[in-house]
Amino acid sequence: MKPLNKVITNKDTSFTPLWIMRQAGRYLPEFRKIRKKNPDFINLCLNDNLSAEITLQPLKRFDIDAAIIFSDILMLPYGLGQKVKFEKNFGPRLDSFDLKEITKIDEVDFVEKIYPVYKAIKKVSSDIIVKDKNTIGFIGAPWTLLVYMVNLKSPKKNLNKNFFEDDFLINRILLIIEKFLKVHIKNQIDNGANVIQIFDSWAGLLEEKDLPNYIYTPTLNLVEYVKSLNVPVICFPREIKNYKEFCEIVKPDAISIDYKVNPKKILKEIKIPIQGGLDPKVLLTDYENLKKETFKYLEIFKDHPYIFNLGHGILPQTNPEMVENLIKIVKNN
Ligand code: CP3
Repeated sequence: MKPLNKVITNKDTSFTPLWIMRQAGRYLPEFRKIRKKNPDFINLCLNDNLSAEITLQPLKRFDIDAAIIFSDILMLPYGLGQKVKFEKNFGPRLDSFDLKEITKIDEVDFVEKIYPVYKAIKKVSSDIIVKDKNTIGFIGAPWTLLVYMVNLKSPKKNLNKNFFEDDFLINRILLIIEKFLKVHIKNQIDNGANVIQIFDSWAGLLEEKDLPNYIYTPTLNLVEYVKSLNVPVICFPREIKNYKEFCEIVKPDAISIDYKVNPKKILKEIKIPIQGGLDPKVLLTDYENLKKETFKYLEIFKDHPYIFNLGHGILPQTNPEMVENLIKIVKNN
């Protein structure tokens, strides 16, 4: 059995598998080297040889338990025909879309447009280096994708609330997103993904009254869909106010927590396997502090099925040596 399945399915507490959100990325000099020669990020994601190579880079360096495919949650709007660019020091920038055009896209067009992502997953999952490891596929949750698709940039840079007043339009888009996310999930699994993580990076922006419509219902539909394919599903509703309620309603197989969550409190509230939590900024401090903070999580979750990870993506300025230290601390525990 693969390491994450032992924890998620068998509720094994005898060891702590580890992977790192954004483990394939800018903190690695070998990634930066490839990135420099490939200024167009979407094209890089669509280069199956390079994206498979980038996916495997952290596994060649570190003793980690899973590969997460080098791609992006915004490959979904891209596959639906919306233009997506990544600008240096700005982040994603999307062109506005025409609902009529999006409605015309069918499954075949969508899959054709992002097909190299699935080819890369196939390459990665059949590589000898991941034989005893998981291959994680992922999607953005409908709410987070909706935010990017209508706000056209990170909501950190200002969220345009006017759009959300058009309930009819918003609900139509949510249904389209959900439909194609299912296609995206199915193709990732068919090509070798054996865990799916759902990233809801902007879950924390919503007020409680809006959670059922924007988060609970669409995410539950996707969680049930992944479960129907017999693959474990991990949810990461970042900065949601009530993780307990989220778990009770959405029922993922495991829950990934952000670094603002109090680990002791969540341990009492949540029965399902837990992942993550450590503040990525801890990797920017020193060895002693890293050890102290890492042990805190290991100690609190020692009798609970737990996957070690960060409470958000690793920061680009992280020194890979600190990652090496972190992994040793977790593995020698
Ligand atoms: O985890 C991994 O190693 C797998 C690859 C992965 C990427 N993005 C590659 C990437 C994953 C799982 C994602 C998820 C993702 N993408 C999320 C959810 C997780 C989170 O961080 O909240 C979101 C919101 C996005 C959208 C996105 N993509 C943003 C906001 C940005 C720009 C901000 C940034 O970090 O630069 C990206 C770009 C991106 N996605 C990069 C990578 C490696 C950096 C690209 C570069 O080299 O410039």
